[in-house]
Amino acid sequence: MSASNSAIESVLVENRVFPPSDAVAKAARISGMAGYEALCAEAEKDFEGFWARLARENLQWTKPFTRTLDESNAPFFQWFADGELNASANCLDRHIGTPAENKTAIIFEADDGTVTRITYKELLARVSQFANALKAHGVEKGDRVLIYMPMTIEGVIAMQACARIGATHSVVFGGFSAKAVHERVIDAGAVAIVTANYQMRGGKELPLKAIIDEALATGGCDTLRHVFVYERTATPCNMVAGRDKTFTQALAGQSTECAPVPVGAEHPLFILYTSGSTGKPKGVQHSTGGYLLWAKLTMDWTFDLRPDDIFWCTADIGWITGHTYVTYGPLAAGATQIIFEGIPTFPNAGRFWQMIERHKCSIFYTAPTAIRSLIKAAEGDASVHPARSDLSSLRILGSVGEPINPEAWMWYYKNVGGERCPIVDTFWQTETGGHVITPLPGATPLVPGSCTLPLPGITAAIVDEMGNDIPNGTGGILVIKRPWPSMIRTIWNDPQRFKKSYFPEELKGYYLAGDGAVRSADRGYFRITGRIDDVLNVSGHRMGTMEIESALVAKTDLVAEAAVVGRPDDVTGEAICAFVVLKRSRPTGEEAKQIANELRNWVAKEIGPIAKPKDIRFGDNLPKTRSGKIMRRLLRSIAKGEQITQDTSTLENPAILDQLSQAN
Ligand code: PRX
Repeated sequence: MSASNSAIESVLVENRVFPPSDAVAKAARISGMAGYEALCAEAEKDFEGFWARLARENLQWTKPFTRTLDESNAPFFQWFADGELNASANCLDRHIGTPAENKTAIIFEADDGTVTRITYKELLARVSQFANALKAHGVEKGDRVLIYMPMTIEGVIAMQACARIGATHSVVFGGFSAKAVHERVIDAGAVAIVTANYQMRGGKELPLKAIIDEALATGGCDTLRHVFVYERTATPCNMVAGRDKTFTQALAGQSTECAPVPVGAEHPLFILYTSGSTGKPKGVQHSTGGYLLWAKLTMDWTFDLRPDDIFWCTADIGWITGHTYVTYGPLAAGATQIIFEGIPTFPNAGRFWQMIERHKCSIFYTAPTAIRSLIKAAEGDASVHPARSDLSSLRILGSVGEPINPEAWMWYYKNVGGERCPIVDTFWQTETGGHVITPLPGATPLVPGSCTLPLPGITAAIVDEMGNDIPNGTGGILVIKRPWPSMIRTIWNDPQRFKKSYFPEELKGYYLAGDGAVRSADRGYFRITGRIDDVLNVSGHRMGTMEIESALVAKTDLVAEAAVVGRPDDVTGEAICAFVVLKRSRPTGEEAKQIANELRNWVAKEIGPIAKPKDIRFGDNLPKTRSGKIMRRLLRSIAKGEQITQDTSTLENPAILDQLSQAN
């Protein structure tokens, strides 16, 4: 990889292009743009034939499919529907009897630095044993199991064990609140929960099981029968007789062999809740066949995975990135991967770089937020700079979750990748299942800040509000015109919301991603400009503004009204800014600070600490039109600290703007 111009030093020049070096291109699975274009042409010529070929080549089917795509009930598309397979068998059993069976599947590094390695054969035995424990407790194909686990080998085992018996898992990020767990248990109708007594983060032991207890004590979880508790630490936790079992108890006497249960390709492998533009999170439902195909395929395409790679995706299994690029993709592809329990700043902000050196990581995949915070740390303290670690094992870098600003891209490229490693800036979403727009490391010339081009067969486009194509160089709405195998199948329990959210009538049946984007005039490269709905992206985590507003107004003794907007933030991408009207008089000074803190903690309890507003401002009321609509664009300007230049003549109460502009 080399800079095609000498502008590498300057972060202000916009048109830097980094084509793959000849050596990288030559060795890659998809080699050069000719390789990419050949696959695109194949998909265009015979769309279904293309996907059928890949599904046959990449997955092991217990019953071959005869039909590739069924569009008869669009937008409820079905892929490979009459085929049968098992996801866990495709991740584990397929490697048994091959040279990979004794290969390390997972290198686990705990928060305190302890390293555990597990081979594919051992992982299969442990997944099978836990699958048997689930079966022994009556968990069956089609049941839903909620997983609330720290980043551990056991978290992956729990997910794989569900897949093995055909149970649908729903992982809830360990930072979400008891209330969030409660809502998800009820919406999913979960019969069991898999959790841990505690989780270790940054040297601290944080409760997990206690949050499950609190969630279940709320009542209404009528479907729930069992709670399995992994003993992550030696500290005891409350156990409810008849309902709760430790892993040790549940696994006792269970065989390490368990035949995988074949399921139809459309069988729901998992439900993952994500934020939308209303207060209620959406249960995004994914399939088994199409999803797994994508997980495996993108390991090969986007990461150009080789047998000797050491792959590390830093995402938590509570997010889609952890599903596709920790639990399913790397295992389906037979990779050795690193799983890290802790946080990037413990015991110091050089942890990532030290771990890359320690484990000879060759493919490193993380979020721009992490990069930006580590840049800050490295600039302030040379001892945690990546230059202090030997990063020569790296060959590919990845970015995911939010737009990466060119400055952060350049720093990552130079200081982590040694100007040698391509950066794949992968655009995708919980709903897309895996990468949809991304560079290919041995093919695509890179432009900092651009996710470049759609994967072969992905018909991404930019359109106006009526679904008409927009010329390159002009911003518009990002859509995908044709279905693809790993797309969301429906919203659990809410097919109408699925149709309305993702396939609005005016968009000609295209999939609406919810992001704005623009294609460059010269290369047609995509650049994501951010969400076009009321969804914020804070540290790469999706948060609905309405969700946070609902949480605030749920504090009924204090809050009369609340409006939440995002504002740009150097480290977290976007920051949450809340404008609040209290039921009492408007507080100022110390009192305002104290109430703001109380509200922050309240939101942490209602949703989770990631949803805490950074900024809370109090007003006597909110800027509204005469018809009572809150004028959010004004609030966005105030949050950014901008002068209000917009027309405020329709405002009922213009004086409120000055009041809200004053920071508390
Ligand atoms: O706004 C886009 C942003 O993250 C959103 C999806 O969030 P989530 O479903 O939580 O999945 C995150 C991990 C895939 C998108 O709608 N986003 C994700 N990747 C990128 C991105 N924005 C710009 N560039 C990216 N590479």
